Amino acid sequence: MAKDVEKRILELRKILNELSYQYYVLDKPSVSDQEYDRYMQELQDLENEYPQYDDPNSPTKRVGGQVLSGFKKVKHKRAMLSLANAYNLEDLRVFDQRVKEYNPNPEYVVELKIDGLAMSILYNHGRFQQAVTRGDGEVGEDVSENVKMIKSIPMEIPYQKELELRGEVFMPIKSFNALNEERAKNHEELFANPRNAAAGTIRQLDSGVVQKRNLDAFWYYLPMDIEGIKKHSEALAFFKENRFKINPYTKIFHSIDDVYQYILEITEKRKSLPYDIDGMVIKENDIETQKIMGNTVKTPRWEIAYKFPAEEAITKLDDITLSVGRTGKVTPNASLEMVRLAGTKVQAAQLHNADYIKEKDIRINDFVVVRKAGDIIPEVVRVLKEHRDGSQKPYHFPTDCPVCGSKLVKEKDEVDYYCVNLDCKARVVESLIHFASRDAMNIDGLGDKRIEQFNQLGFLNTVEDIYLLKDKREQLLMLEGFKETSVDKLLKAIEDSKNNGLDCLLYGLGIRHVGKKGAKILADHYHNIDNLMHAKLAELEQIPDIGNTIACSVVDFFNDEANEKLIEKLKQFGIKMSYESVKTTDSIFSNKKIVLTGTLEKMTRDEAKAILAKLGAETTSSVSKKTDLVIYGKDAGSKYDKAEKLGVALMDEETFINELNKYEI
Ligand code: IVH
Repeated sequence: MAKDVEKRILELRKILNELSYQYYVLDKPSVSDQEYDRYMQELQDLENEYPQYDDPNSPTKRVGGQVLSGFKKVKHKRAMLSLANAYNLEDLRVFDQRVKEYNPNPEYVVELKIDGLAMSILYNHGRFQQAVTRGDGEVGEDVSENVKMIKSIPMEIPYQKELELRGEVFMPIKSFNALNEERAKNHEELFANPRNAAAGTIRQLDSGVVQKRNLDAFWYYLPMDIEGIKKHSEALAFFKENRFKINPYTKIFHSIDDVYQYILEITEKRKSLPYDIDGMVIKENDIETQKIMGNTVKTPRWEIAYKFPAEEAITKLDDITLSVGRTGKVTPNASLEMVRLAGTKVQAAQLHNADYIKEKDIRINDFVVVRKAGDIIPEVVRVLKEHRDGSQKPYHFPTDCPVCGSKLVKEKDEVDYYCVNLDCKARVVESLIHFASRDAMNIDGLGDKRIEQFNQLGFLNTVEDIYLLKDKREQLLMLEGFKETSVDKLLKAIEDSKNNGLDCLLYGLGIRHVGKKGAKILADHYHNIDNLMHAKLAELEQIPDIGNTIACSVVDFFNDEANEKLIEKLKQFGIKMSYESVKTTDSIFSNKKIVLTGTLEKMTRDEAKAILAKLGAETTSSVSKKTDLVIYGKDAGSKYDKAEKLGVALMDEETFINELNKYEI
């Protein structure tokens, strides 16, 4: 009897897996939904009755219900790199030349670059084991429970040995539109694009939510050797045999011109695809060549991403509005007639500053071209002067602050106008918003709307007032929309923020030119606020990455009596004013032999050396086979050439700086 039950359970799982495969991968269902549901119900009933046959990969486990408390961090078995970019045919030709140095007859596999999030999945003994996000490429998050909700991903495969594969999880446009429609109905914030929606969904703690949102995935890379697989295209065929979903637009070409023709063809088709793509990926097919070509620190040298140009749209500029930031900077924005751009509705765009408006001769009522690249806020790129009909009005930047009316100031050599009135309401509110924001004091529940409301009511005028809100508990309780729980939650968040540490506080205080990174450097150098307050200009300037501008601004800030008083007050409230530094020695540079060459623009060579030393790297002066990496600046010469010849990994300055930003140095 028990044997029969087990047999039936296994049989049902097999049937349901097969039906899912037909439906979600092949897009060819062979049974009705009712029939599928009947099998599912039968399996669910048996599993309920015989929990001894439970299986975490059972089809019944793919309907959600698990609520996680967080995601475990997992180190990737093999680092997940990213791709170098090409923007035009010329870039592709350079890539082609490089490949040809290693393989005179390259074969290019061309794939769509799916705009989702990279995922690594592991199988063993033919069973799904784990799914991990890319994270920083070295360490990602275990999102297995959520990935199980993606029905096109098989839980069981024919291949029995250990297998890792990489691919892209994405949200089809249809699912994205349905999701946003529902969110609009519920007055929830909309997702800007399918990629953000997919990334947000994968990090949901409730897998039931993931299940409803219909994510999907394509698989495009095998990061390990498997006997008999000598080409990337063979890896893709192997994926297919093992029931994974492969993108149908993948094609092989033998010349870069043919590759480009295909890119143009897809560019045309792009808008009619059922998912977003942001480019194409071109991969040298021969795995042996891939290995010889190797990687730079961040990107493989045998493949490249062709990125589509940023999207543009034409619309009418209805008005120019101004906003005043916490520093008093006055920023002009364009109010636009609504236009669709890169999948989102756009009604506002950046105009940067007064000079920008003047140089481009942007007038109210003009037809303008707006552009959006990636996640960046759209900007007005140019005016279509030929569309002017006489109704256009030139724009004159105001001389007075649009909020408090005081005279605006523009310093020599600066492009921006500033409101210098410290009591300007806009500045006060924006400063408070900045202070409470996530990267600063991270006070949950004290966002822009609430700060504005509290400011209107006279509860919040200074940073100190935030910590006095607890004395206003009764008054807060009388406000509409405030319940005891929400008030207490807010007051607790305020109390908790006292322990954040000096780096968060310094950033939150909004000292000019002191960003998140600068605040950390200062906190790390001085450990407590008293040391920093007594620091002399010359001493501050000596700190790597601080420089004269930040140093002057810090000195000015603490010389101001009002700020001194504020710090004293905050101290009395019990706000932590010290910092314990965390040293990161574990980085991609750790234990590497590195050569610096060419002129670095963002730092001196000595500074770069000091930073690399901190990260556990050894810098040497000449390139040899033993060199792990050459970091190059402008006008790099023979060392660069030698590194190329020896196949030593190369990294440009920009990539280097981006990499450094990941560490607390
Ligand atoms: S190959 C070394 N192929 O694009 C990374 N990536 O900008 C291997 N992507 O992180 C990537 N479609 O998330 C590859 N057909 C495709 C892709 C693809 C989308 C994503 C992937 C990667 C990012 C790089």
